Amino acid sequence: GKGEYDHFMLKEINEQPVSLAQAIEGRIDPINGRIALSDFEPGSFADVDSVQFVACGTSYHAALYGSLTLNQAGVQSTALLANEYSVSAPPIDDDTLVVAVTQSGETADTLNALRRANAEGAHTLTVTNVVGSTAAREADDALFIRAGPEIGVAATKTFSSQAVMLTLLAQRITDDLRGEPPTDLESLLSALDAMPGAIDNLLDDSDAAEIARRYRDSESYFFIGRGLGYPVALEGALKFKEITYEHAEGFASGELKHGPLALVTPDTPVFAIFTGQEDEKTLKNAEEAQTRGAPVIAVCPEDHPAVAIADDHLEIPETDPDLAGLHANVQLQLVSYYAADLLDRPIDKPRNLAKSVTVE
Ligand code: M6R
Repeated sequence: GKGEYDHFMLKEINEQPVSLAQAIEGRIDPINGRIALSDFEPGSFADVDSVQFVACGTSYHAALYGSLTLNQAGVQSTALLANEYSVSAPPIDDDTLVVAVTQSGETADTLNALRRANAEGAHTLTVTNVVGSTAAREADDALFIRAGPEIGVAATKTFSSQAVMLTLLAQRITDDLRGEPPTDLESLLSALDAMPGAIDNLLDDSDAAEIARRYRDSESYFFIGRGLGYPVALEGALKFKEITYEHAEGFASGELKHGPLALVTPDTPVFAIFTGQEDEKTLKNAEEAQTRGAPVIAVCPEDHPAVAIADDHLEIPETDPDLAGLHANVQLQLVSYYAADLLDRPIDKPRNLAKSVTVE
């Protein structure tokens, strides 16, 4: 049941310290300090020449997170919407690794993409929450995120566990391709270790309910981020629109000036996500919105330069840039939840949506 919580969504948001610890457990080798994924001996990915992620919705945002992490490490990778894959899959050969990312393991669009990749001879891997799901059975290999059952239609804890799992996978692939661990692995490993506790503190001290109240009468809600903040901006907006029924959009920070800025007014709060990747540029983009009257809510550490400029602040801890966006995402999950609660929406079962989409 929901226990002390009014909704499964809030319960599942609050479960993240535990679900993240479960995602990480046993996946860092205590002896050599490298990422260990059972089933994948060191060198398993040595022949991979490119990685394609296929997924839908929130899982697509996690997939994009993983793909950008690989790109930043110099590995050729793309994230593709599974429902577009049948018409426009990039070329596949037997050195292509196709990773299906799906919480349920039953999403029809994602299964179709996986089947196509299998048929074309790619090596396939499913990252899922459900052991024994169709996607887990049909891929060559499977990795389980171990988040526990998620009842709320809005994916919350499973997004963060998918993104962490894909971060681990990205490191393993990079490690195998280079034959040595990435130089910044130590910082990532200590940030992973600290993450469950840091999310616990963030949940205890969040100002998200107050921010949701302050901006409740707005017309549209914008989310901007750069680098690994970009998939988080997309996810922040998806969560917000699906449970509040209010208009929300996520943009790459640098894209704001290429069109969306025309929509910006004092009634369009802008949530700006800072991950430590060219933050000065994102701050400039946020200020361009602020000049047009939009309130800016900076999602960043306490002593970040954005705090002095922004109208409001949602705090995240100082952490590795590979994980900062996932901390920001938890703040945004809470903002969506409290905004939907103020509007009295049926949070766990938004209209027109299903937890698992088994039709094309
Ligand atoms: O089960 P899947 O991860 O394959 O589901 C894909 C999407 O339908 C899903 O992520 C959806 O976007 C979320 N429930 C939205 O919160």
